[in-house]
Amino acid sequence: MSILDVGCGPGSISVDMAKLVPKGRVVGVDCTPEPLNDARAFAIQQGVTNIEFQVGDIHALDFQTTLLILFMSTKSCSMWRILFKRCVS
Ligand SMILES: C[S@@+](CC[C@H](N)C(=O)[O-])C[C@H]1O[C@@H](n2cnc3c(N)ncnc32)[C@H](O)[C@@H]1O
Repeated sequence: MSILDVGCGPGSISVDMAKLVPKGRVVGVDCTPEPLNDARAFAIQQGVTNIEFQVGDIHALDFQTTLLILFMSTKSCSMWRILFKRCVS
């Protein structure tokens, strides 16, 4: 299972999910690079290796058809509608 966490910010949710899918992979994406440094450091501190963080905008993501996308974030709900519209179009 691959999980894409859009608007991952400092990556706390992304890292939690990576722990839950040790045989899977999580990609955390955020449109600003600053929180991703904290996210990478947090993943290392937590000993999580099945994760990567990338700069990206939800409006211009390069979706892969083989990637199962589960969008999760407690605080960026406003972006859900955009992503779901992209997924079904
Ligand atoms: C409120 S924070 C949520 C961080 C984290 N997901 C959480 O729940 O703790 C929202 C994040 O979405 C990012 N963001 C805002 N617009 C975005 C966009 N168009 N594409 C990707 N990320 C975006 C912001 O940079 C910010 O880090």
